[in-house]
Formats: sequence, structure tokens, C-alpha cells
Amino acid sequence: MGKLRFVTAGESHGAGILAWISGLPAGLPVDLERVNLELRRRQLGYGRGGRQKIEKDLADVMAGVRHGRTIGAPIAIRLENKEWETKWKQALPVEDFEGSEAARRPLTAPRPGHADLAGSLKFNLHDARYILERASARETAARTAAGAFAKLLLGEFGIEILSHVVAVGHARLERSAAWEEIKAVCANLESPLRCVDAETEARMKAEVDAALRAGNSVGGIFEVVAHGVPAGLGSHAQWDEKLDGRLAQAVMSVQAVKAVEIGAGVENAVSYGSEVQDPIGYDAQRRRFVRPSNHAGGLEGGITNGEDIVVRGYLKPISTLRRALGTADLSTKEAVEAAYERSDVCVVPAGGVAAEAMIALALGDAFLEKFGGDSIEETRRNYLGYQRQIDEF
Ligand SMILES: Cc1cc2nc3c(=O)[nH]c(=O)nc-3n(C[C@H](O)[C@H](O)[C@H](O)COP(=O)(O)O)c2cc1C
Repeated sequence: MGKLRFVTAGESHGAGILAWISGLPAGLPVDLERVNLELRRRQLGYGRGGRQKIEKDLADVMAGVRHGRTIGAPIAIRLENKEWETKWKQALPVEDFEGSEAARRPLTAPRPGHADLAGSLKFNLHDARYILERASARETAARTAAGAFAKLLLGEFGIEILSHVVAVGHARLERSAAWEEIKAVCANLESPLRCVDAETEARMKAEVDAALRAGNSVGGIFEVVAHGVPAGLGSHAQWDEKLDGRLAQAVMSVQAVKAVEIGAGVENAVSYGSEVQDPIGYDAQRRRFVRPSNHAGGLEGGITNGEDIVVRGYLKPISTLRRALGTADLSTKEAVEAAYERSDVCVVPAGGVAAEAMIALALGDAFLEKFGGDSIEETRRNYLGYQRQIDEF
């Protein structure tokens, strides 16, 4: 990332999870309710474990925002981990104290599918606790908070980013979803799996129930849509400027995402060219080039083409299983059962929210790369100047 940068810190059961965001222009209005709504959305979904009932994430903005607006300084956000004080302060102390050795909660039976083994080898630790604490998807809360700020920026320019669930286990939505449908299902926080089709959603719920009964887990597919994106973000000129690649990395980096698809990429690969390209027309009234279809998912040559950006993430089934898998102990090397830590059974809707945040950050970066501006007024002038250029093209 270049113009809009962010990093996170924090362990799953440490004092808190932190996010820093740099590069947002000054003067951007910050509505904390919107930020907290994103955090709330990440905690929803049928098939989540007990943790979401404990954590009620609220963004504690510690820097970079004054009087409801950004000031051009880095933004720092802290999210408290509710169980730190009561359950983990002794087990994960910053400094040793008398008796701290006995208070440890080591994890020596690495769980297949987690970073436990690879991380322990890499960092030369015989306790995978420190690996899993950071690898945990609790970290997506920080990404979601950072992404909410990117959404605030993009929202100033009419760009909205939402997601819905396309598949859970073997239950799959077999049609495309209209933007208005996605908006409606996202507005309904009671929706169990954020699927636009009630019948399909019922089948998805049954998949989660079956997995839960069997001590198993399920994966699935979410689809993120960015609506109102102008043509011309990203570039075809260098490999690392191509926005399709940048969006793919952003989504692939979300825990448990193992494949990313842009537009109808997977289906297109097994179709004829005549079936998958999107013909170009011109709408004189709107003074815009238009497409009757969007198989390309809003990107051609690594550049946005003015259509909705559509990115799918494929999540593997959650690795932690109540019906534990076989593993080898890190110290004794003996065959043991993998450790079980309280776990979700299905996280596809939450994965979608985390991916929305990642898309917002990557798109926000591309947006500021094109329009720049140290104040929101400057960014807006640049944006409007470009819109005039497109109108007069
Ligand atoms: C929102 C979200 C919640 C997750 N919750 C769990 C969980 O409760 N238990 C689990 O085993 N994995 C969970 N995962 C997945 C793991 O964090 C992930 O599989 C693991 O860190 C290994 O990384 P990798 O799958 O990307 O290789 C979750 C993922 C996401 C996106």
C-alpha cells in the first residue's frame, strides 16, 4: 500500500487490538457510530462461537480525530479485549511475576490448519500460544475499524462497499444478486447469514446445524461489491499498480480465505470468449460508457472501468474442530489430539465484513493515489476536475 497505509497490533487475549491508519486527508467527517456499526456487523452471523457474546467492540479513537474530523495525522484506534482483565492477564503477562510460570496456558498440540506449527518452528517457540494469539482472526476487528475509516472517505464520493454470502458448505445461491438486494440484506442486522435469498439461507443454516451436531465446521463464499467507483483507479502500467492484483491480495490476506475471484473469473475460464466479454455502449444522457453485463467485475487491465467491482472470497472450513484431529506434540513429538480452543463453526458473513474493510482500504489507497489531497476539500476539487474530464471526453 502506498498513499493510505494501515497496520494492526494486538493478540487475541491481550489487553486490546490496535489499528493505525496513515494518509487520510484532513477534514474528513468521522461518524463513530458508523465505525461501531461495522464492528458490530463483523460480530454477527449464524454459527459463531461464544466469544461474540462476550466482545462488544467499540472503537476507542486515541489519535488523529478532533471535533469529529480527521486532522491529517495518523489515526490510532484501540479495541478492548473484554476477557483480558478477568481471564488472561496472568497467563499472558507483559513481565514475569512470582508464580507466572504456573499461570501460563501453553498450547503444545498444534492444530492442523492453523499457524500453530509453522509459526512455532519459525519463531523457535515450543508453546504455540504466542503464535495463535496473533494469527487469530480477532485481528480482523482492527482491520474492520481501519476499513471503516476508508469507507468514510469513499462514502464522501458516493462509493459504497457491501458484501453478501453466496455459499455456506454445499448450500449455494445459484443466481446473481442486485445491488439493491445486497443493500437490503446488509441493512437487516437480524439476517442470520446475510444471504439475499430466504430459501437458500435456510439451506445454509441447515449446513451450519449439521456441522455443529457433528463437531465439524463449514466454509463458504462471500461476495464483496463496491458500487459507484469511478473509471480510472489503478493502472495497467506496472504489475504492482494493477488494482485487480491489489484487491486480490487484500482479500486473500483475510484469515481462512484460500481463493479470490474477480467478477465471474472462475466461470469465465471454462466459457468461450464470446460469452464472457462485456460489450461497450454509450449512454449520451449520462455521458458515460456503459456495459450490459459485468463479467469482468469492474476491472479491465488492472483499471476500474466504472462498473461495480465484484470480488469473491472462498473461505476454507474453520480449522478448529470439536472432533479433534491428530497432531504431534511440539516437545515430546508424540501423537496427540489437537488442542481445542473455543471456536466458531461458520464465519462466512464475518469474513465478508472483514473483506469489505480490506477492499475499502485498497480502493481508498487507489483513490488517494489518483486524486491525492491533504485536505478533503483538495481531494474533492481533484475528483470533480476528473469527473469534468470524463464528462467532456
Ligand atoms: C471472522 C473470522 C473468524 C474466525 N474464527 C475462527 C475460529 O473461531 N476458529 C478457527 O479455528 N478459525 C477461525 N478463523 C480462521 C483462522 O483464523 C485461520 O484459518 C487461521 O488463522 C489460519 O490462517 P489461514 O487459514 O489463512 O491459513 C476465523 C476467520 C475469520 C475470517
